[in-house]
Amino acid sequence: MADAPSSSFSAGAVVGTTLREHVLFSMHAAPGATGEFTSLINHLSLAIRIINSRVRAAGLANLLGYTGEINVQGEAVQKLDVFSNDVLLNVLERSGHCAVIASEELDELKFSNRDGKYVVLFDPLDGSSNIDTNVGIGTIFSVLRRRSTGAASQDDALRPGTEIVAAGYVLYGPATVFVLSTGNGVHCFTLDPDVGEFFLSQGNVRCPLRGNGYSVNEGNFSRWDPRVQAWNTWIKADDQATQRPYGHRYVGSLVADAHRVLLKGGIFVYPADSKSPTGKLRLLYEANPMAFLFEQAGGMATDGVNRILDIVPSAVHQRVPLAIGSSEDVIAYRRFLTQA
Ligand code: AHG
Repeated sequence: MADAPSSSFSAGAVVGTTLREHVLFSMHAAPGATGEFTSLINHLSLAIRIINSRVRAAGLANLLGYTGEINVQGEAVQKLDVFSNDVLLNVLERSGHCAVIASEELDELKFSNRDGKYVVLFDPLDGSSNIDTNVGIGTIFSVLRRRSTGAASQDDALRPGTEIVAAGYVLYGPATVFVLSTGNGVHCFTLDPDVGEFFLSQGNVRCPLRGNGYSVNEGNFSRWDPRVQAWNTWIKADDQATQRPYGHRYVGSLVADAHRVLLKGGIFVYPADSKSPTGKLRLLYEANPMAFLFEQAGGMATDGVNRILDIVPSAVHQRVPLAIGSSEDVIAYRRFLTQA
């Protein structure tokens, strides 16, 4: 990958690298690059900035609260979810780059531009149950190169995460942070709201080998498999030699919980339980993009036992147990799940 300029100078001011420049420079080095991928990421960035503007004004703009509809997952749909979904669909369709678009909020795949080279899968507004209480929420996406040549089909979307070419998430927290990987490490861009641009704020993020925090909805303890319960008891136990207990942090927004683990290390777990026997999180919209990012940052992502990115999906809304984080912490979790 060519080195993007770290800054440009004008009249004494130092201007950081924009997301646009970063993608452009990384793609320059790619053999046969046509500019379409760069354009696709720019369109995603536009959709994100539009969503961000509404998220920031949600309390003022009467966008909080439920629409009264039930989505394909059987959950109440909130107004900002609908808005975010519509914006992403609209912007991606107009880009002309997408043969297939899949959204957590849509029952069916959307077959968009017949000449489009890409497949984009997204969760438009993750953690939406947190909207009403002003807690961090996010958008998660992944991009695959289309495989079919004729008419696009479901098979273009039902592919393992190993085929992902780019993935990212955006955290609408105190600042809006766009975390992106195009397969060359993980880079964070922070939105300057006055300028309306994302600027590189942390390049080449590495997830620490081991952390000191764990993130899980412990209210589900009684519903867990005894092996998950054993891990949970172990990670809270006092043992100086192995630097336990770990601290517990859980927001209930995957993007917020995962972002902390990515930067600080540790582990995020959403295991299967008796209420959600195959887990709660969706493979295509949540687990796969996060797994791609964590692996790119040197971390790990498993369903407890197997690598997430190796799972061959059988349905677009498939759910999967998820354990992501520092490799030593994910391996320790796996030790518990694989014991007899
Ligand atoms: P949703 O966007 O439908 O509210 O789902 C949020 C997801 C994910 O962001 C989070 O990690 C998890 O659900 C939280 O689930 P619990 O409330 O069961 O802990």
